[in-house]
Amino acid sequence: MTSQHEPRLSQDEKRRLYRDGFIIVRQAISADMTRAVKQLINENPDNKGYANNRDPRTVGLYNDSILPDILEEAMGPHTRPITGFVALTAPGSSDAVVRAEFDPAKIPHPEAHVDGGWAGLCPVKRSEILASGQDLHTWGSDGDPKSMGPAGGAPLWQDPDRTLAIGSFTAFVGVCLNDQSTPGKGQFAVRRGAHEAVEAFFRMQRRKGGPIGGGGPGWPRLVASGEDNAYAGKMPEAMVRTYPDNRFEMKGWPWPELTPALMQEGDAVIALHALPHTATPNLSDDPRINVYFRIRRHRPDNPHEGNRRVGWGVSDHPDRALNGDFLEYPDSYDPYKTSIDKLCHHWSEWDGMQQIIEKENIELSEQHSVMADYW
Ligand SMILES: [Fe+2]
Repeated sequence: MTSQHEPRLSQDEKRRLYRDGFIIVRQAISADMTRAVKQLINENPDNKGYANNRDPRTVGLYNDSILPDILEEAMGPHTRPITGFVALTAPGSSDAVVRAEFDPAKIPHPEAHVDGGWAGLCPVKRSEILASGQDLHTWGSDGDPKSMGPAGGAPLWQDPDRTLAIGSFTAFVGVCLNDQSTPGKGQFAVRRGAHEAVEAFFRMQRRKGGPIGGGGPGWPRLVASGEDNAYAGKMPEAMVRTYPDNRFEMKGWPWPELTPALMQEGDAVIALHALPHTATPNLSDDPRINVYFRIRRHRPDNPHEGNRRVGWGVSDHPDRALNGDFLEYPDSYDPYKTSIDKLCHHWSEWDGMQQIIEKENIELSEQHSVMADYW
């Protein structure tokens, strides 16, 4: 079966990508390709050794489909993924499942995040942090703690000079492998249109001297949790309160601030890195299966395009090796400043969007100037 979507975004799709920060590409992937990956996942349901992520059939969902053509046209050249991320959300909250009428009181409330920041429980107790003279806002300003090795996911810092605390890429691409068209199926969900507020926040952090990301101006690295714990990864209130109020009303959808990607097998979602997103609880009886790819526009001066150590396709911090090692760069190229520039001007990475942006800007410039005034 051949794909029914053209290998490029229509003008209308680009307009929606610009305004919403994401677009669903209907029927991007053929059924024989999705079927092959589902079979693979069924054979190795625990994804042992992350083998499913690297299998050619999985990576082929991106590389052998129309998705590279779509991204090349809308964004530009990019290093192809060598790995993806099979994201299976098992059926959950089974006792609370009431398919027709959800009880919001019993259902977890997911919060959207922007990828690339270190997230998780802090290995140091709150009392120890305060006793050492540090505070929750700037904790980690002396470097990556030893106890947070590569297994800790995204590192605290992208650069040895600690000017950048958030990893970044250009587009988050998710391929849907089963029916997610009805509410409560564990959908990928977003704060629709919040990408510009996130960019404005990064600009404010840069203007105030940085660092950019958690620990920088307006963004406490840690928040208190429980009796003596602290955790990282929460988006700062100062950012969240600038998100547009784009509500999604649908019977059976308990999180109106979040817009779900309602997809069918073979659909794909493309979202900007800056668009806050989250998985949502799977209240159904079926697993939710997506495969995700992180795509960054090619940077001609970057010597590590294609370097396997970066983990292209899955890494949310591609200026460092996937395992957290710092990479060597020539003096002529500053990867961290480049990333900060892109975080502060995300549409500069989208060649094929420039015409739409110009047209749409006339209408949206008013909203943007309101945002600029805010900061
Ligand atoms: Fe994420």
